[in-house]
Amino acid sequence: MATPLTFAIPKGRILEEALPVMERAGVVPEEAFHDKGNRSLTFATTREDLRLIRVRAFDVATFVAHGAAQVGIVGSDVIEEFDYSDLYAPVDLAIGHCRLSLAAPADVPEAGAGASHMRVATKYPNVTRRWFERQGIQAECVKLNGAMEIAPALGLARRIVDLVSSGRTLAENGLEERDVIMQVSARLIVNRAALKTDPRVGELVERFRTVAAAPDAS
Ligand code: PRP
Repeated sequence: MATPLTFAIPKGRILEEALPVMERAGVVPEEAFHDKGNRSLTFATTREDLRLIRVRAFDVATFVAHGAAQVGIVGSDVIEEFDYSDLYAPVDLAIGHCRLSLAAPADVPEAGAGASHMRVATKYPNVTRRWFERQGIQAECVKLNGAMEIAPALGLARRIVDLVSSGRTLAENGLEERDVIMQVSARLIVNRAALKTDPRVGELVERFRTVAAAPDAS
């Protein structure tokens, strides 16, 4: 049998929405995958030639960009942050909708109000720097890996750039959403070289394309 394809999926919220889409595209994980107590990171699927790995969202992009996994699902926020040339994102899965936004406490002035430099806490330093640069502002980014919303209250940075969905996390931490930097949704990503050399990758892309074009009515 040919080497199995490795499909990387992110832990966290996106997974719940991604699973039905994957199943409609014929990617059905083994039972153990649904067992909350299971600590394994690799799972078989009903396809003998396809296995899943469950990793952090940023790592999905890294595994696929390096060809260690051939296919993956990840938010467009992560794709934008890495800007990997070996990574191709052919299908918008129309799930995992949220936005990447600049937020700050109410007493912090609007970005762009005359400042040429600002400090921002974020998991997205590249996207953040680029966005501020377009406004002639130099952003000094303090990299955090989660719980960005706590940074202003502790004086780490007056502004944050983070994902916003319902807005509850911002509100409950005394922050206001100021600017939407990008709208986010989950994408199917593939390694460019694998797409060229392994027909199974192109076939998976087509399956997901079909599923995404005909959202489940149920
Ligand atoms: C995300 C994001 C925000 C929150 C926004 O974090 O980083 O903190 O969700 O959602 P809301 O607008 O609906 O409140 P998540 O809970 O996924 O965990 P993380 O901090 O590990 O990224």
